[in-house]
Amino acid sequence: MLRFSTVSLTSKRVTFRHRYKDQILIMSELFHAFAEIVGDVNVLTGDAISEKPKNYWDPTPLQAKAIVRPANAREVSAILQICHDVKQSVVTHGGLTGLADGDHSTDQDVVLSLTRMNKIESIDCVGQTMNVEAGCLLETVQIAATKNGLQYGVDLGARGSCTIGGNIATNAGGLSVLRYGMTREQVLGLEVVLADGTIISSMNSMMKNNAGYDLKQLFVGSEGTLGVVTKAVLRLRPETPYENTAILAFERFEQVTATLGMMNNAMNGQLNAFEVMWNDYYCLGTNEAIKGTVRPPLSTEWPLYAIVESKGANASSDQENFESALADALEQELISDAVISQSEKERADIWSIRENVDIVLSHDPKYIYDVSLPIIEMPAYLDDVGAKLRKKWPDVAFYVYGHLADGNLHLIVAPEPQNLGSTTVKKNLDADSEWYKSSNDMIYGPLEKLGGSVSAEHGIGLEKKPYIGFSRNQNELSMMRLLKQTLDTKNILNPGKIV
Ligand code: LAC
Ligand code: ZN
Repeated sequence: MLRFSTVSLTSKRVTFRHRYKDQILIMSELFHAFAEIVGDVNVLTGDAISEKPKNYWDPTPLQAKAIVRPANAREVSAILQICHDVKQSVVTHGGLTGLADGDHSTDQDVVLSLTRMNKIESIDCVGQTMNVEAGCLLETVQIAATKNGLQYGVDLGARGSCTIGGNIATNAGGLSVLRYGMTREQVLGLEVVLADGTIISSMNSMMKNNAGYDLKQLFVGSEGTLGVVTKAVLRLRPETPYENTAILAFERFEQVTATLGMMNNAMNGQLNAFEVMWNDYYCLGTNEAIKGTVRPPLSTEWPLYAIVESKGANASSDQENFESALADALEQELISDAVISQSEKERADIWSIRENVDIVLSHDPKYIYDVSLPIIEMPAYLDDVGAKLRKKWPDVAFYVYGHLADGNLHLIVAPEPQNLGSTTVKKNLDADSEWYKSSNDMIYGPLEKLGGSVSAEHGIGLEKKPYIGFSRNQNELSMMRLLKQTLDTKNILNPGKIV
């Protein structure tokens, strides 16, 4: 029986490597070695794996050779040393809410689950930073920041399930990128374990640190292919607890962009969200015949809607500024109609139209996209894509919504719109189908010329890998491969993802 202990790992490694070369390594030995590091209860195999769903979107059984649940970077390092020695592939799992199959694992992969590493270690209210373990939920970070009179700059619908480590690995965007930027801009420091088990502790908490390369940025958005993020120093912001929220209706796209510019100026940096929905998306979320919808706050006749929200620190002047900016926009006929929420319930109802993506996803099949392109190109792009989709599928439902200020749209294509109400929200169900591929070509085709991206905020994972070349040139891709080969010489970390 091969035995490992965390203390004498180095000497035992020699034996392990030797045995591997002799091809006599068996799975039970690998499991035993993991158990020596994390304890028996934290090495899951067999039914304990398959009773778990693949991810948030897909209820089919999760596949893995084993799920290993380390408690800290030292344990992650010990596990990775073994995996590196025996060339065992490793897929790191956070909250499994990703949208590009970056978390995909097979029965040949070891899944590293960071669920036990979920603590907030410290908050520095003066320096406005938080030290947090990677498995901590986004929502936990948000609540802890607020309790300390501060706030975290990233918010997104999956806040109650997604983890900070996953947010970092995918450079998550979300609803307030226009104000605070993406996750990249909230990360001051990281602790990362490399493929060979080396722990890079780069837990900088300074706003300014130009002492050489900014190594942490290499790992933000690397989708678990360059290292395993185990801890982070997050930048916090002063709390802005007073929200003012409205939903607006527009006749023309130019009104939307003019209102965005005008609100951004008038709100003096307090504009926190500007989320746009095209008519079909709004109508579905307010179709009271469907469970989970809300009554339409504005008539369903308008081509475009936006949810606009400011967040500030002064209840009365914030409200005054917000309402006077909206009044100006109405007077200048930038807005066709508007409803300002008067209570937390009204605010929640307005946001639920935008956030209840599950209703759109209950189409079967449906294809979800996350593209970016210059804002001014959006109407022509959508006309072009819509015409192509209708030519192929005359009844197609084509839903469009997104983070307009970030140039980021989400498009959902449902070729057979009558198939609504599927109980599973499993995305891109028939991902290998000819339909999906033609839809991809129609959506992604025009982006290259426009300088847009096939993935604005969801990452590449496996799903968008065939299309990365639409948004990155050959030299960029070569450099990505060089980084991957340099940092993960044996290609064990999330192999096959991104490049
Ligand atoms: C959203 C996710 C899909 O913004 O990114 O709804
Ligand atoms: Zn989004």
